Amino acid sequence: MARVKLRPIKISDAEMCLGWVSDPAVHAFLGLLEPARTLDQERSWIASILTDSGHQRAFVIEDERGEAIGTCGLRGIDRESGTAFFGIMIGETRLWNRGYGTAATESLLDYAFRELALREIRLSCHRENRGALRCYEKAGFRASSHVPERVQFGRDEVRMAIGRDTWLAARARAPDPGSAGRTASERSARRDR
Ligand SMILES: CC(C)(COP(=O)(O)OP(=O)(O)OC[C@H]1O[C@@H](n2cnc3c(N)ncnc32)[C@H](O)[C@@H]1OP(=O)(O)O)[C@@H](O)C(=O)NCCC(=O)NCCS
Repeated sequence: MARVKLRPIKISDAEMCLGWVSDPAVHAFLGLLEPARTLDQERSWIASILTDSGHQRAFVIEDERGEAIGTCGLRGIDRESGTAFFGIMIGETRLWNRGYGTAATESLLDYAFRELALREIRLSCHRENRGALRCYEKAGFRASSHVPERVQFGRDEVRMAIGRDTWLAARARAPDPGSAGRTASERSARRDR
């Protein structure tokens, strides 16, 4: 089973992230406005996350060897409604379909529900992004019509959600997801102090 650790993203990750999003295979379904960002744009994106940790969080996904393989995070964190939007990319395409996407999604959900105490995590995905849809389904997301529409995929969008109670009930029946969620949350908690 693939195991991952999540660590908070840093400005010095910008070049690596740019390399990943510049790959057309990675970029195809990300819903970005431009095919590739510049290094300055990438740094600004990371800086905006670091200065707005109340509304967004981003993590670098590390594999079992501690190699960075992608990123995932939450946008639009709304404490009042207890909701946020999830996003992910495994930038190293040679590692697709080995369970890393699902493992990272599960770790981030654990963090969102246990550490941030959010109520529901939402996402939108292009309906032709079959690998992503399968990954989300394995992690527990289900299609949901009440998730507000986002502009990025228009009518080709599939909206999904998972609630805290559903997640916690499933976790109670499943093995511990490992250190990934704890790593993410512990480091984030330290940063927030
Ligand atoms: C989406 C993404 C994160 C998935 O990561 P991953 O590590 O490949 O995910 P997993 O291996 O955990 O799960 C992928 C599943 O999709 C399946 N899959 C892949 N391509 C598929 C296809 N064309 N049709 C059906 N299933 C497919 C895999 O077989 C696997 O399912 P299985 O474990 O039941 O065999 C990764 O592909 C990625 O980063 N893509 C580019 C960025 C992106 O699109 N992000 C999502 C934006 S909404």
